[in-house]
Amino acid sequence: MVLNPTIPKKLFNFKTVNVFQDSYVLESDYIPSSLVGRDEEINAVAEIFFPLFRNGKPGHAFIYGPPGSGKTVVIKHVLRQLYSEAGENINLKHFTVPCKKHNTTTKILSFLLREIGYSDSLPRSGVSCGYYYDLFFSYLKKQGYSITIIFDEIDFLKDDNVLYNFSRSGEFKELNERQFIHIIGVSNTGEFVNSLDPRVDSSMQRETIVFPPYNKEQLIDILNMRVSLAFYPDAVCEGTVELCAEESAKDEGDARRAIFLLQAAGNFAIKTECSKVQPGHVIMASQKVKEDISLQFVLNMTFHEKFVLLAMINTEKYLKKGKFIVTGDVYRIYHDMCRFAEEGPLSLAAISQKVAKFRMMGIINANVSSRGRGGLTSEIVFIGDPDILANAIYRDGAFVKFMTYNPDIRKICSVQVW
Ligand SMILES: Nc1ncnc2c1ncn2[C@@H]1O[C@H](COP(=O)(O)OP(=O)(O)OP(=O)(O)O)[C@@H](O)[C@H]1O
Ligand SMILES: [Mg+2]
Repeated sequence: MVLNPTIPKKLFNFKTVNVFQDSYVLESDYIPSSLVGRDEEINAVAEIFFPLFRNGKPGHAFIYGPPGSGKTVVIKHVLRQLYSEAGENINLKHFTVPCKKHNTTTKILSFLLREIGYSDSLPRSGVSCGYYYDLFFSYLKKQGYSITIIFDEIDFLKDDNVLYNFSRSGEFKELNERQFIHIIGVSNTGEFVNSLDPRVDSSMQRETIVFPPYNKEQLIDILNMRVSLAFYPDAVCEGTVELCAEESAKDEGDARRAIFLLQAAGNFAIKTECSKVQPGHVIMASQKVKEDISLQFVLNMTFHEKFVLLAMINTEKYLKKGKFIVTGDVYRIYHDMCRFAEEGPLSLAAISQKVAKFRMMGIINANVSSRGRGGLTSEIVFIGDPDILANAIYRDGAFVKFMTYNPDIRKICSVQVW
């Protein structure tokens, strides 16, 4: 019997609607030809490299600012200009160390050895840091060029000895004459700078450059610069870019988030077979981003963390009396939920610890206030939408039963929990 070969259904069956002309322009590794609102920061970073043009060494620097404030793109922009303007006159290469991944001296030195082209095998254990330093300095000496090392997310470094040894490598005659190691540390907060060992700090003699968050107008300019390249003419409706900028300006002025929202809105337009990207698509995209973030937070939580968070959400839903919820009410609802689920309650201290963790994670804002004889209490406000968090918690089968939880508020309010 001969089987009729069936023609497979087309997998890449693109809808007739497409709004993107070149979606790479909205990707994170795209470097725009010019930058908006960062002239001062560009000049400050460029100044670090001025000494190179007088045969000197560039100055070490720490750069900090909130996520998406343009630190990486400004550094890349300045380096691109430096190589093109200085040409053959400088003998410099740069490397970026992601410190979240490479956070110890050994990991950093192994990573950098590979980056500068060392290809022999490296011992996995049993050798001291000194072994790696010797190997690194001698191999770099052979290469002959100087290096700028960008320590990204430098606050994840486990020890700052590597900064000390690199910044003093010239003085310790580890390298050739005029060869140097130049350090740029990048971080979201200035805390790392303050926590540096004074010995390291003084040996670096570094500059500090602070990047402020973008405001709505700057975010609009950043987005508009990409719109004409990324989208077909007239594919983005009036108000769409403004809404992306407004949403992101509320959220720490993060340009990455603004660009991502615009891209996600474009994808929603295609999904809904609409040839124009409208503000409504931004709202859908923004809701989806919030849900994804909440889901990510909640997925990584322990059972008890989810339990306490749900108690806070239920307090907001059933017991909120003013602008914020207070810890006493959270304990009341928590105890009632334990009774409902036949679970043994955690101690007061354990619950407070979890509330502090939610604050650190950016799920809530909590201010401690004195309530006379009631002692100290926390005034809690949810930063995002508690309903989205609740839905993420209900994805865990152990919490489905709480979907029908309906507390007797009068009874709960009369209970003294401590
Ligand atoms: N001034 C600007 N003009 C144009 N695009 C910008 C500007 N600032 C940032 N961007 C874009 O926004 C995105 C985020 O910028 P960048 O990666 O430089 O932020 P960052 O400060 O390094 O953030 P993080 O702290 O999370 O690493 C990138 O796609 C970048 O190209
Ligand atoms: Mg960055």
